[in-house]
Amino acid sequence: MDSREEMQKVLSKLQSDDRVRKMKDYVQHGRISTYEHCENVAKLSYRIDSFFSLHSDLEVLLTGAMLHDYYLYDWHAEDNGEHRMHGFRHAEKACMNAKEHFNTDEKTNHVIYCHMWPLNPGRVPRSREAWIVCIADKLVSLHETLFMR
Ligand SMILES: [Fe+2]
Ligand SMILES: [Fe+2]
Repeated sequence: MDSREEMQKVLSKLQSDDRVRKMKDYVQHGRISTYEHCENVAKLSYRIDSFFSLHSDLEVLLTGAMLHDYYLYDWHAEDNGEHRMHGFRHAEKACMNAKEHFNTDEKTNHVIYCHMWPLNPGRVPRSREAWIVCIADKLVSLHETLFMR
């Protein structure tokens, strides 16, 4: 199986899961749902890995990317402050959900847990997969915020 086929295999498994698809109900930036955002981050992560021949573990890279914002709530909703500090806390929530629903491994959890660095300054990415997703998330978020409103 070449890397493109592996990418499609890992992604399509997650994309067809109803719990992952639940992210379609939540707005990320402008008119982009959290689901689309995660898909965009997964695709860009794959492209960065291929372009620079980084040879990431694609299962870890793409599962981490697809679930990096798997916190499953609308952070824009009025909720008496329950989702205040969203920026600081959601990575942890996403990581918990991923572990609980998909039994993700250590390496994948690390990708999710560290993706908000440097906003979470203590959580420095320590693997190539975590670095790629952290950077891809920033690029995709900027693009969605500026151009897809
Ligand atoms: Fe995030
Ligand atoms: Fe994100």
